[in-house]
Amino acid sequence: MAKLIVRGGTPLKGKVRISGAKNSALPIIVAACLAEGESVLENIPRDIDVYTISMILRELGADIWFDEADRLHVIPDGLEKHQASYDLVRRMRASFYVAGLLLARLGKAEVPLPGGCALGSRPVDYHLKGFQALGATINIEHGYVKAEAKELVGTKIYINRSSVGTTMNLMLAAAQAQGTTLLENAAKEPEIVDLAIYLNSMGARIRGAGTDVIRIDGVEGLKGTEYSIISDRIEAGTFMVACGITGGDVVLDNVVPEHLRSTILKCAEAGLEIEEGPNEIRVCANKRPVAVDLETAPYPGFATDMQQPFVAMMAVAEGTSVIRETIFDRFRYVDELRRMGADIKVDRDTAIIRGVEELTGAPVEATDLRAGAALVLAALSAKGETEISGVELVDRGYEHLDEKLRQLGAHVTRIADQEDDDLTKHLTTSFLERC
Ligand code: EPZ
Repeated sequence: MAKLIVRGGTPLKGKVRISGAKNSALPIIVAACLAEGESVLENIPRDIDVYTISMILRELGADIWFDEADRLHVIPDGLEKHQASYDLVRRMRASFYVAGLLLARLGKAEVPLPGGCALGSRPVDYHLKGFQALGATINIEHGYVKAEAKELVGTKIYINRSSVGTTMNLMLAAAQAQGTTLLENAAKEPEIVDLAIYLNSMGARIRGAGTDVIRIDGVEGLKGTEYSIISDRIEAGTFMVACGITGGDVVLDNVVPEHLRSTILKCAEAGLEIEEGPNEIRVCANKRPVAVDLETAPYPGFATDMQQPFVAMMAVAEGTSVIRETIFDRFRYVDELRRMGADIKVDRDTAIIRGVEELTGAPVEATDLRAGAALVLAALSAKGETEISGVELVDRGYEHLDEKLRQLGAHVTRIADQEDDDLTKHLTTSFLERC
C-alpha cells in the first residue's frame, strides 16, 4: 500500500487550484457515450475513479483518451458490448451509471451489482425501480443485474429518497426515451445540474435540474460536443478545512462559491475568515477553530462528503461539537482519529467531539476516500509525524492532493509501492493514447 508521511504543524499559505468535480466527471463521461460523435471534455480531474470509469467504457468499445492539453476525448461510436466487467465495476459504485447508458444505447445491460462498500450497505433498488418504470425488465442472476428493454418509455417516477446516483442514472436512461419522464423528489446537487446542462448541450431536453422535479422530454438522438465541467466543491471544502486546522491563509482558485454555501457558513461559524470572489475564495484562520454542531443532508444541506474533513477540524476545536450523519454509515474512521488523540464518542449516527488542544502523529489507515482526507488534515495539524496508509483510496477522488499540499508549504512525502507505481504509470500513460 502507498503511504503518506505528514509532519504536522505548518500553517498552509498560498494559492491552490481546485480541480474539476469527480462526481460530475463520472456521469458526464458516461453521458458522452450516449451520443453519436466525439465529445471533448475539459476540467476533468486525473483521479483514479475517472480512469476506472474510462477503462470500463473502453472495454465496452468506446475510445477515450486525454490529450496533451488535459482534455478528455470520448468517441463512443464503437460501443457495442453490453456486459461490464466485474473486476472494474466492483472498484467503484458509480460505475453503475453504465446500466442507464447501456439500456438507453443498446436496449440491454449486464452490470455487476455494486454491493456494499466502506460506507455500509448501498443498495441500487431505486435505480432498478426507475428502469422498470421506464419499461425495462430486470433480473438479478449470478451477481449481475440483467436489464432489457425493446423501448424505454417516459413516465412519472417518484424517487423514494433524494438520491444522486438514481437521479443521474434515470436522466441517462430517459434522455432518449419515448415521451416525457418526470423525476419527482429528484436530487438537487450541482453535479445533477452539470449533467443536465451537458446533456442539453448534446441535444437533450431536460428542464428543472436543481429543483426536486426534473422533466425530461425524450429526443431522437444526441450529438457529441465540447464541455467544461464544474469544479469540485468537496475538494475545495477539504482545502478550506486544511487551512482552518493549520491556522493558515489560503486562496482557492477555480471554485464556484455558490456550490460551497453550507461549507462556507459552517467554516465561518467555526471562526474561519472567508472572502469570496467570483471564482475564488480566500480562507484565513487566525485562531483555534471553535466547536460547531451540524447535520449532513442532501444539497443544499451540509454534504456528507465534507463530514469527515469537518470532524477532523472539530477534533482540535475549542469546545464540544455534535455531528449527525444522515446519509451513510460513515463514522468508522474515528477509531483512526482516536489513535491520534482525538476525543470522539459515536452513538449510532451521531459523533460527539470534545476538542483537544493538539493531536499527535501516529500510524493510521484510510478506510475510505473522505476518511483518508480527514486523516491527512488531522496529520497536518498534529504534533510530530503521521504515517497514513491506504492512500490509493484518497487518490480515487483527489487529484494530486499531496503535491497541492506541498505547494502550500505542508511537509508531506509520498512513499509509493510497486503496485501504486504500476497502476499510476499504466493509467497515466495508456490514457495519453487512443486505443
Ligand atoms: C453520491 O453517491 C456520491 N457519489 C457520493 O460521493 C455522495 O456521498 C452521495 O452521492 C451523497 O451525496 C457520486 O456522485 C459518484 P445517493 P450515491 O444515491 O449516488 C440511499 C464521495 O466520497 N439509496 O445519493 O451512491 C443510499 O444508501 C462519495 O465522493 C438507496 O437506499 O448516493 C443513501 O443512504 C461517496 N437505494 C441515500 O440513498 C438506492 O437505490 C443517498 O445515496 C440509492 C440510494
